[in-house]
Amino acid sequence: MHPCLSNALAALRARARNLLTRDLAKFEADSSGKSESRELIFRARALGTVYKAGQLEVSALSDVSFDLFQSEWVVLLGPSGSGKSTLLNILGGIDSASSGSVFFRDHDLVQADSRALTRYRREHVGFVFQFYNLIPTLTAIENIRRVTELAASYGARCMDPLEALRSVGLENRADFFPSQLSGGEQQRISIARALAKMPDILLCDEPTGALDVETGKLVLGALVRANRELGTPVVVITHNAAISGLADRVIRLAGGRVRDIHAPPCRIPVSEVEW
Ligand SMILES: Nc1ncnc2c1ncn2[C@@H]1O[C@H](COP(=O)(O)OP(=O)(O)O)[C@@H](O)[C@H]1O
Ligand SMILES: [Mg+2]
Repeated sequence: MHPCLSNALAALRARARNLLTRDLAKFEADSSGKSESRELIFRARALGTVYKAGQLEVSALSDVSFDLFQSEWVVLLGPSGSGKSTLLNILGGIDSASSGSVFFRDHDLVQADSRALTRYRREHVGFVFQFYNLIPTLTAIENIRRVTELAASYGARCMDPLEALRSVGLENRADFFPSQLSGGEQQRISIARALAKMPDILLCDEPTGALDVETGKLVLGALVRANRELGTPVVVITHNAAISGLADRVIRLAGGRVRDIHAPPCRIPVSEVEW
């Protein structure tokens, strides 16, 4: 090769290397700045859960690790029996892991005794279940008021029950009993009840599992709004891959292990979800 050409090539290579190093350093600075600026809500490491049923031991979770940040919408996706509810119940202080660690901010949820877990649930967690769990003998607003009065009795701030109903678009159903409401309306009431506590985290176990697509969209819309407007981080369990499109991040479980964690390329609007 001609010496001039060889020199020019060497200069070009050096320049490319420089640019690459500089861009890489900038990228690392940007991404570390990003994670530092986001508040860490959950930090789970090597979580394991073994259930004993008579002689049989069932390993429901093994070696589960992830972080969850403020304002995130995370979907826990996986087939039935993959450990989704077990994991959600550990995050919500309903169950304790057998091994590993999980922190909610600086609360150690694995070492906590049952009193500490009750207090953690009461003060920080809003739960939404597949079958709503509303009290049938109370009206919609009474179901919510029962939670806010309890919260007020130990000095926690909470939402006005009617305001909570308004946030899910059901202020005109305040005096209806659960049996007078459709499934989707009951689920939105149960979301209002969870939101009225002004929880630090909203945990939802298959919230649309019993609903048709159109009703399910209204329920998902209420969850998306809570996340966007109140900044509440939301974890939603589903075996329905279509709902993943709403998430900031998807944690896929299989056989009690994390199969992968990924961010969908873009967050789709609720109106585009189909299943
Ligand atoms: N209380 C329990 N006792 C014994 N085994 C359980 C219990 N709860 C869950 N399991 C088992 O743990 C595994 C994970 O269950 P679960 O977390 O409910 O899965 P998913 O919510 O993904 O359907 C399943 O094999 C299930 O049978
Ligand atoms: Mg489940």
